[in-house]
Amino acid sequence: MQKILVTGGAGFIGSHTVVALHEAGYTPVIIDDFSNSASSVIDNLKDLTTSDLLFFRGDVNDKTFMQKVMRDTKPSAVIHFAAKKAVGESVANPLAYYRSNVDGLLTVLETMQENDIKSIVFSSSCTVYGEPDVCPVTEDTPQKQATSPYGATKQMCERILEDVTQSDALNSVALRYFNPVGAHPSAKIGELPIGDPNNLVPFLTQATAGLRGPLTVFGDDYGTPDGTCVRDFIHVMDLAEAHVSSVKYTLSHNGYNTFNIGTGHGNSVLELIKSFESVTGQKVPYSIGARRPGDIVKIWADTNKAKNELGWQTTRSLDDSMRDAWHWQQSLK
Ligand code: UD1
Repeated sequence: MQKILVTGGAGFIGSHTVVALHEAGYTPVIIDDFSNSASSVIDNLKDLTTSDLLFFRGDVNDKTFMQKVMRDTKPSAVIHFAAKKAVGESVANPLAYYRSNVDGLLTVLETMQENDIKSIVFSSSCTVYGEPDVCPVTEDTPQKQATSPYGATKQMCERILEDVTQSDALNSVALRYFNPVGAHPSAKIGELPIGDPNNLVPFLTQATAGLRGPLTVFGDDYGTPDGTCVRDFIHVMDLAEAHVSSVKYTLSHNGYNTFNIGTGHGNSVLELIKSFESVTGQKVPYSIGARRPGDIVKIWADTNKAKNELGWQTTRSLDDSMRDAWHWQQSLK
């Protein structure tokens, strides 16, 4: 069985991708330092995958560690998730973001080069588009200047990947994620940020479970149908499956490619709350607050390129995502 190295494999998207890789017949090799995840994720992954996965604890910025893992396991491809992702934190501490996100990718690419590994899938983000003039956005929509150091690292990393793909004859894919939500239907893995959640859905489920105060909806006076921001919320298992399609793609196609990974539909924050309430029967405690600085008003994906070239598309609804997110939250009690 081909081995696939998954950096950040204990994180939210990484852990679900490990399950999808296993289901597709690959052996996942996980690297994680648990800086934003719990070590129990690995045990739960072993349960879910009946455990042919390999795990190494360490930091992607540690070149000696990365060299040893690549030399010992000889993966066919790398999926590089390990990075920091909190927009506000990146404004407060940009050095940590440039060091972790940019340097991390450089170390991964250097150790791939030294071990002659030619395929890589990189975690990018719809944040590279900034506030778009027109929705949906295609991969050719012009990029605006990033509004945060986090966004800037994703733009820089895409450029680095494109340049190194050319110089080293790599096969590479940058996936521009829209908003991943939901959890594995088994409720054995899900989104569990360390500390207070920044993102909408973990805050919403924790507030509904009574673990924190009410959710604040950041602004209802935007120029959108109900006044709240609009996002493309994608079930994390659909997103995980896009990585399997992308690994297959990099193992058979040369060059650098970017793909939007979303559902192709926009939903507002209030629509997401309504979906959650209708599938769970729970009342979400929330109030309307001020706009959050730096928020994009509305963005959703044109996913035709991913459909046509990766042969991938979403199969799960927003209701499915909300149901699975709630089951996951309940399993944590
Ligand atoms: C942001 C980044 C995205 C990144 C992701 C990772 C941008 C434009 N987007 O997504 O690239 O991958 O973080 O963490 O930089 N909301 C509330 N109340 C809350 C939390 C959120 O109303 O307590 C609203 C926000 O205002 C937003 C929506 O929910 O409209 C989604 O927010 P969030 O989950 O934080 O994701 P993004 O900001 O879209």
